[in-house]
Amino acid sequence: MEPAIPDHLITARTRHPRVPADYEPPYPSFMARHGPSVKTLVMAYFGVQFRASDGAAAKGPLAAIAASFTAEDGPGHWDRAAYTDEQGFSNVISIAYWDHTASFERWFSTYGTAWSGDDTADARLGFFTEILKPSVERYETLFSAPDRAEGVAVIAEGMSGMVREHAYWGGMRDRIPLSQTDAMEPTGAPRIEEEGGLLRVIPHDNICLIRSGQDWTDTDPEERRMYLEEVEPVLKAGMDFLRDEGLSCGCFANRYMRVVDEAGRPVEKSFGMSWWKSLAQLERWSEFHPTHVAIFGAAMKYLSRLGPAAKLRLYHEVTVATADQQFFEYRNCHPKTGMLKAG
Ligand code: HEM
Repeated sequence: MEPAIPDHLITARTRHPRVPADYEPPYPSFMARHGPSVKTLVMAYFGVQFRASDGAAAKGPLAAIAASFTAEDGPGHWDRAAYTDEQGFSNVISIAYWDHTASFERWFSTYGTAWSGDDTADARLGFFTEILKPSVERYETLFSAPDRAEGVAVIAEGMSGMVREHAYWGGMRDRIPLSQTDAMEPTGAPRIEEEGGLLRVIPHDNICLIRSGQDWTDTDPEERRMYLEEVEPVLKAGMDFLRDEGLSCGCFANRYMRVVDEAGRPVEKSFGMSWWKSLAQLERWSEFHPTHVAIFGAAMKYLSRLGPAAKLRLYHEVTVATADQQFFEYRNCHPKTGMLKAG
């Protein structure tokens, strides 16, 4: 068992963790580990939005950004996911990760700024760019199995051994190194600025992003049935709640996304991706809201029936960023897109 916070990020505490040093979690979980030389991560979401009937128009930009990811200074890893939003629009998001800010900045100025910045783009398409550049003290991951990295963990050096700080409410906070000294409370509220058809969200300090994933690729038919019939509907209800009523509990926007392959076909992986006013509000929703309590309950029933034989994989990555570590731009998107709902 190892502590969630790696040695090189341990500081003199002014705030206490929720559990004592001899706490032992009832089941194993793991975290992504970056080498000590990694100071900052970049998580960049490039979205294109369109009516389903205009899907063909999105193919060019999607191919172009995929090609640009292979250029010099491109991301260490990227993947792509799709969903239909509450306004009936299709959204495809290419998500790219860097562990070197200078490479990202070079790539972004050459290829990335035009994604939502190009005012000559096809009028049938909306474009958005949502980027976080957290220092490593401001983020954490959790994996139910150590042998398949997803998201930002793919660019990590590797996985930890079993970590101590999980399986209790508050574990997420305790895994974020900054929680040793900082409550990460939000300050102010986001506002929107418009510049020639481009909407920019000016964020506040300590906005929080979660990408919380499910992977049922390896499940056998009976486990797959249990996941798809007993757990997934509960998850979907929770995701719909956050999408439609999330503002009431501090969730600015939620997307329940299906991972797609290079040809755009869905694979057996999904994730909820949501923007929150604060880490505290995400904590409150997960601990107390009937939707996550039900998701958690359905998963516990399921995992206790299957035990270690369960092949469903769960993971998440959670970031709390300062205002200057965030960037949001929207062109030609409907007003309920992403962080536009927060302004
Ligand atoms: C099938 C889907 C899901 C299942 C089975 C599930 C189950 C769980 C479990 C077992 C934990 C405790 C993990 C640990 O510490 O060992 C947890 C924590 C958490 N979940 Fe979920 N979850 C799911 C989806 C989601 C989604 C989509 C979100 C948000 C978008 C979410 C938000 C959270 C948060 C924030 C925590 C951390 C709470 C804390 O440590 O204070 N979960 N979930």
